[in-house]
Amino acid sequence: MPASPVPAHIGIIMDGNGRWAQQRKLLRTQGHLEGLKTAKRTVKAARELGAEYLTLYVFSTENWKRAAEEVGFILGLVKQYLKAELDFYRENRIRLRHAGDPTGLPADIAQDLREAAEETREFDGMQVILALNYGGRNEILRAVKRLLQAGTPALTEETLSRHLDNPDIPDPDLIIRTGGDCRISNFLLWEGAYSEYYFSDKLWPDWTEEDLIAAVRAYQRRDRRFGGVQP
Ligand code: FPP
Repeated sequence: MPASPVPAHIGIIMDGNGRWAQQRKLLRTQGHLEGLKTAKRTVKAARELGAEYLTLYVFSTENWKRAAEEVGFILGLVKQYLKAELDFYRENRIRLRHAGDPTGLPADIAQDLREAAEETREFDGMQVILALNYGGRNEILRAVKRLLQAGTPALTEETLSRHLDNPDIPDPDLIIRTGGDCRISNFLLWEGAYSEYYFSDKLWPDWTEEDLIAAVRAYQRRDRRFGGVQP
């Protein structure tokens, strides 16, 4: 990797599992199973690159519209992931966190997430944030509700930011979307205001470590001005 800074926080919209499966005349769920393997590889690759935070868009507030079997399958994969990967998280001191509304999740998944977050909360390695029952609008709305409940006097960008799901996590530097569509689909709407976006035609199960490196290289060539001008 070139020496220029690696994005501290990378967000990924992991799209294309269904199409990957359909192209192979497999069930969509098979695509999600393959997608889980890619997610595992990507956590390792992002860690090796030196990213500090990785947010994975696993299940959106809109994904409940899918067939019950598909929803159940994805949530089952999450459960399996939380169980199977905990040793890897422990060994590598990776902290696992959740973004999204836990109250809309099945109680056992919400509990597994809470426990994994609790067990890894002191780890000082990379942080992996699973966006699960997550929607950017929903997160902003819940932040406003918390802010009002807390009786916070001033409604400012600063006070609202402090009531988001993970207020200590810096905004994503780079947001990647696989699967060929160029939209953000309600992902990190507030936090992504000045993120660099990278869209790839590759379907998520086909995404590799080399693709992640190519995305980071593209990011390193961008000129980030945050609305200002270069001196
Ligand atoms: C989008 O592809 C993918 C999802 C909605 C599910 C993502 C889930 C995983 C990758 C597995 C779980 C991962 C972890 C880390 C627990 P799509 O189904 O919308 O694909 P399509 O656009 O081709 O239909």
